[in-house]
Amino acid sequence: MTVRSSFVVVANRLPVDEVTTPEGRQWRRSPGGLVTALHPVLAQHQGTWVGWAGGVGAAPEPFDLEGIRLHPVPLSAEELERYYEGQSNATIWPLYHDAVETPVYKRRWREAYRLVNARFAEAAAEVAAEGATVWVQDYQLQLVPAMLRELRPDLRIGFFLHIPFPPIELFMQMPLRAEVLRGLLGADLVGFQQRLAAQNFVRLARHLLGLRYEGQMIQVDGRQVKAGAFPISIDVAEMERMALDPNVQARAKQIRTELGDPKTVILGVDRLDYTKGIELRLKAFRELLADGKLTVPEAVMVQVATPSRERVEHYQALRVKVEREVGRINGEFGRVGVPAVHYLHQSYSRSELAALYCAADVMMVTPLRDGMNLVAKEYVATRADSGGALVLSEFAGAATELRQAFLCNPHDPDGVKDALLRAVHVDKGEARRRMRIMQRHLRTHDVGHWARSFLNELGVPEAEDE
Ligand code: ADP
Ligand code: G6P
Repeated sequence: MTVRSSFVVVANRLPVDEVTTPEGRQWRRSPGGLVTALHPVLAQHQGTWVGWAGGVGAAPEPFDLEGIRLHPVPLSAEELERYYEGQSNATIWPLYHDAVETPVYKRRWREAYRLVNARFAEAAAEVAAEGATVWVQDYQLQLVPAMLRELRPDLRIGFFLHIPFPPIELFMQMPLRAEVLRGLLGADLVGFQQRLAAQNFVRLARHLLGLRYEGQMIQVDGRQVKAGAFPISIDVAEMERMALDPNVQARAKQIRTELGDPKTVILGVDRLDYTKGIELRLKAFRELLADGKLTVPEAVMVQVATPSRERVEHYQALRVKVEREVGRINGEFGRVGVPAVHYLHQSYSRSELAALYCAADVMMVTPLRDGMNLVAKEYVATRADSGGALVLSEFAGAATELRQAFLCNPHDPDGVKDALLRAVHVDKGEARRRMRIMQRHLRTHDVGHWARSFLNELGVPEAEDE
């Protein structure tokens, strides 16, 4: 029998990982801010999360985990290629990130996107109780709000876009443009990371569909659709707790020792994605070494590049470029047993990441475009010692909030080098002052605050804390 919920989250991925334990294969809640933030609301409303469980072919039966009902949606191998790798990650992802890579447009990808979005909408319609609230997440599912409204006009529907929303001129390239816009307008509230993105959206509604708007409110077929900015954040308390854990502290020390106790550890942590500006960061480091402004082994760089979307061509090409640059730097500036760049193409546990953050004197976050960038916020939250310095691209959503970072324009190599040097040489008092201001901001703007602001605006009663 289908369990019906008064609160439903729909996202491309379910917030679970399948792990092997001595008792066999089991599901475990995946770490991550989104599920932590939504957990109290889901638990209080006997909520359901609709999403893809990973893998292809038949999906597992719905199951319960830690008070949440998980409702898997299946994807075939062909859909994985066309809907996920194709339309989502080779068309929409690059287009919405300022076309920093050229978006690829294919008819069969669009058809698969439509079909899979319809499947998600049907699954949500099936599990939502009368008058329920459904919150749809991210660019993979932009057609779902309108499809769901068509099936279930009784629902209250929210949508949140985790990535940037492009200016009109760029959005207009997309062959599916009107359908995507109508899809989003099926929601009652459409949330973005930035005020500018919300503005792009309301202006687009007028430009493309001739709709009238006042402020952030758009008139659509006698309904009102509200657009707004809700900058996402992290579980700050959890991050702070982890950083104070003696095991994490000890591991941070050990990492520095393993790196040869350098004076300056420079860190990058990103999915291996072309939006993240990994190459330009490596190039800035190489040029500073060549100029003699930095030297090995006094300064070393650690670059964690998490494997991501590995079957998509843009990502394969990026991996080759990044690895070539790492090889070049180590070839020119490393010595036997002393590389200049430690490159790690691996996933890590939350505690290992926290230890890396604690071990880093300078964190480099230099995306060419990023909706928010949670890594920047995580780094700030782990520095309870108020040590460390953050170099942050102006093109990351986080730059709107983290004003005390060493901000730079990632398109200007000299600007990046300058920001990196300033961060390396900043005096301790100044670094601490900057860090504390950013930490204070994050404590009042954590992921719980983000979820509550969005849901309040959507008219969902507040959940009690767990
Ligand atoms: P994006 O959502 O584009 O990947 P964000 O910086 O907003 O970028 O979020 C990335 C999230 O993934 C962060 O919470 C970060 O801690 C986590 N993460 C990044 N790299 C790794 C890794 N190698 N192992 C485990 N988690 C990682
Ligand atoms: C970004 C997107 C998410 C996505 C994540 C990981 O944060 O906004 O929707 O889940 O990257 O990417 P993946 O393709 O592995 O789900």
